[in-house]
Formats: sequence, C-alpha cells, structure tokens
Amino acid sequence: MTGVRNGDRVDLPVPAGTAGESFSVRVSGVSKTFPALRSGAPVVALDTTNLQFEVGRFTSVVGPSGCGKTTLLRMIAGLERPTSGAVTVAGEAVRGPSARTAMVFQAANLLPWKTVRQNVLLAARLRGKVDDRLRERAARLLTTAGLGQFVDSLPHELSGGMQQRAAICRALLVQPEVLLMDEPFGALDAMTREQMGNELTRIWAQNRSTVVFVTHSIPEAVQLSDRVVVMSPRPGRVVGDLLVDLPRPRTPEVLESERARELHHRIRAHFTNLES
Ligand SMILES: Nc1ncnc2c1ncn2[C@@H]1O[C@H](COP(=O)(O)OP(=O)(O)OP(=O)(O)O)[C@@H](O)[C@H]1O
Ligand SMILES: [Mg+2]
Repeated sequence: MTGVRNGDRVDLPVPAGTAGESFSVRVSGVSKTFPALRSGAPVVALDTTNLQFEVGRFTSVVGPSGCGKTTLLRMIAGLERPTSGAVTVAGEAVRGPSARTAMVFQAANLLPWKTVRQNVLLAARLRGKVDDRLRERAARLLTTAGLGQFVDSLPHELSGGMQQRAAICRALLVQPEVLLMDEPFGALDAMTREQMGNELTRIWAQNRSTVVFVTHSIPEAVQLSDRVVVMSPRPGRVVGDLLVDLPRPRTPEVLESERARELHHRIRAHFTNLES
C-alpha cells in the first residue's frame, strides 16, 4: 500500500490482521460540482481527487474553509453523489448510507426529544443490536466524555460542546468499519479537546476503525493521525500527503519532540505555499 508525501511515494505497513483489501476507502477521480443557485455560477467543490484510506489507519484531512472537506466525507458516507469518479468502501461502490460507516458531523445533530442516553444508543438501535453489554459500553463512553451526570438530560439542557461529545459517543458506540469525523472537536475548549482526542485514539486502538478526521488544527492532526492529507483552497485538490511516523501513545514528550515539530512545520509549509 502506498501514500504520497510531497509527491514521493511512502510505504505504510499493513496493520496486523488486515490481510486482503488494504484500502478501506478509495476515492478515484472524484469531482463534485454543485449546480448554480439563483444567478450564481456552479460551485466546483472538489476537483478530480484521488485518495485511498488504508484499513485501520487514522488519517486527518486539513485544508482551508470551503475546500470540499465536508463534501468529501459526505460522499464517502453515501450522503452525496460524486459528479464524476467513484467512491468505494471495502471494495464496494458507495450508493447510499451503509452500516459500515458512521459519521460525526460539524454540528451534533441530536434528536431534541430524546435524552442523551437514548441519542447515544440510537445508531446502535437502528442497527438492531442493543443489549446490556452495549448499554454498559454506552454508559462508559458517556462517563469518559464527561457526560455521566447528563445521561437523562435532553440536548437543549447541554452546551454545544457537550452535545458534540454525545454525538461522538453515538458514533463510537457502533464500532463502524469506517469512522468519518468532520471537525468533531471544533466546539470544545482546548482542554476537553485534547482529552477527547486521547480518548478517541485509545478507543480507536482497540477496534481499529479506518478513521477519516477533518480538522483545522495542525497540532490536533499531528496528535491523532498516522497520516495527514492537505487540501488546496476550492476547488479542493490534494496538495500534500504526509506520514506521521511518531510513536504511540502520543505522550506530551512525543508531541514536543523534534520530529513532531518538523512534521508540524511541513504541514504548515503546504499552507504557506498555497498563499504565496
Ligand atoms: N449542498 C450544497 N449546495 C451547494 N453548494 C454546496 C453544498 N454543499 C457545499 N457546497 C459548496 O461547496 C464548497 C465546499 O463546501 P464544504 O462544506 O465541503 O467545505 P469545507 O472544506 O468542509 O469547509 P469548512 O472548513 O468551512 O467546513 C463550498 O463552496 C460550499 O458553498
Ligand atoms: Mg466542513
């Protein structure tokens, strides 16, 4: 399997136990144009994009606002059709939403009339597998996310950041093959953000979903990822693809190391190149 780094090919080892299809998600020659609204011109959100996401890898996608990151995730989730090109998950063409995939949106999207606990169990319930073990896991996840006292609250009784944490628990609970996260920590304060990041990678290490994580934060991308994809301003194209070869767990020492700083600078350099 390969990934691209500054135009160079770089090799990533296949995680143990994932023989066979080494790419979980393939985005091949995908463009997305939204039709003109009123008198405006059509919007080319994404331009002929090729990306592969390796099985069990944690990949972050960073890029300027409006470059098509959410559109990319929505196409992988089957919520949007590409204008041209193809998206496959586990070798199958994506034709609509699938139980293989879960998405955490930029907004929490909780059902306002259901409690936090009911919201978190909802996706699992739709997949028909709620039992005591799952209820216990939901309770554990909610406690970890600092929502232990709020399981019976309604969403409007929570802050925006708390609602978002509940939405993250809901997606993690179903242990999807592919977990798509669209700036899931954007509404959180810095401290909770870091804690949720650590918790997310801890849970990910246990069941190894293929994660595609959109963020505006370079430190967050370095903290969490095996690989960081950098996109250009709209129409979005891939302009950088770097392997984050830092050891896990990503302790403060690891994240303050020379190598972490170097990676940070290299990602930032892609943005600087785009501006000049
Ligand atoms: N449903 C839609 N109809 C029309 N245009 C759309 C639609 N969804 C997205 N767009 C346009 O496509 C472009 C890319 O949008 P997208 O939401 O994917 O960007 P983004 O990279 O996620 O931005 P941000 O970082 O601000 O969330 C934008 O110009 C946006 O206006
Ligand atoms: Mg977005």
